[in-house]
Amino acid sequence: MADRLDLALVGGGRMGEALLAGLIDNGTAAGRIGVVEPVTARQAELAEKYGVVVSGELLAADGVILAVKPHLTAEVAAAMAVHSPSRVLSVAAGVTLSVLDGALPGVAVVRAMPNTPALVGQGAAAIAPGANARGADMDWAERLLSSVGKVVRLDEEALDAVTGLSGSGPAYVFLIAEAMIEAGVLQGLARDVATTLAVQTLLGASTLLSVGDRSAADLRADVTSPGGTTAAGLRALEDRGVRAAILDAVSRAADRSRELGAS
Ligand SMILES: NC(=O)c1ccc[n+]([C@@H]2O[C@H](COP(=O)([O-])OP(=O)(O)OC[C@H]3O[C@@H](n4cnc5c(N)ncnc54)[C@H](OP(=O)(O)O)[C@@H]3O)[C@@H](O)[C@H]2O)c1
Repeated sequence: MADRLDLALVGGGRMGEALLAGLIDNGTAAGRIGVVEPVTARQAELAEKYGVVVSGELLAADGVILAVKPHLTAEVAAAMAVHSPSRVLSVAAGVTLSVLDGALPGVAVVRAMPNTPALVGQGAAAIAPGANARGADMDWAERLLSSVGKVVRLDEEALDAVTGLSGSGPAYVFLIAEAMIEAGVLQGLARDVATTLAVQTLLGASTLLSVGDRSAADLRADVTSPGGTTAAGLRALEDRGVRAAILDAVSRAADRSRELGAS
């Protein structure tokens, strides 16, 4: 390649495509991004849909996003080192900065813990700097991930807590959605009606939380009239220990992330 690309995205799977779509939607020139993807049919699909260069071989670029499966990440990072990128952002769950820094000597590496709502531009991600990453490298990584949602900056030790909260969090919400739909059906609503109402309630409540400056506790108090229906429903949730169950869920998922990181 005569001209070095600004960005190579290695791994054109679900997370890779979400980032690609977000970057292009936010004005990054398709001509400056290259995608590395081994599957021929997928190469054609991504090239046609986004107008980017897609290659089966690693591409030379200043910046690299590593979005392959975690068990392949160290190997692909080491192969990428030959092309001497300046910066690498890894989105691989559980692959530590010591592994990434070891595979990419002298390179500014940033590790991210994203989550699946990134696939619809509503991700929550945390980023942590490797040994060679400076403020400008974190700015670069934040810019990339901001194209698919919100980004916070933390030290790597906090990423297990992030995994327990926002990494695994979408699954907790899906479980709550399932339960709300079943509860509506039990009350006699048709399943499609219960689904529409439950999904829109979760979306609407999340939107209220994210747009205003009122806390979750304030918003809950606003809809809880003394002696009313919501107070009765909330009483049942407290009786069943829902709050404690969520504390335990985040704590167990974070512990599991620590265990997996240590193995
Ligand atoms: N999906 C999410 O919401 C999510 C959330 C948090 C973190 N992540 C992280 O994002 C990373 C990707 O996850 P994903 O869900 O997007 O997985 P995925 O859909 O399987 O995507 C991985 C892609 O990388 C390709 N690939 C494999 N080996 C390669 C190589 N040597 N060079 C270039 N490309 C290669 C795969 O091709 P093949 O099909 O041939 O394997 C596949 O297209 C993972 O490390 C995961 O931990 C994902």
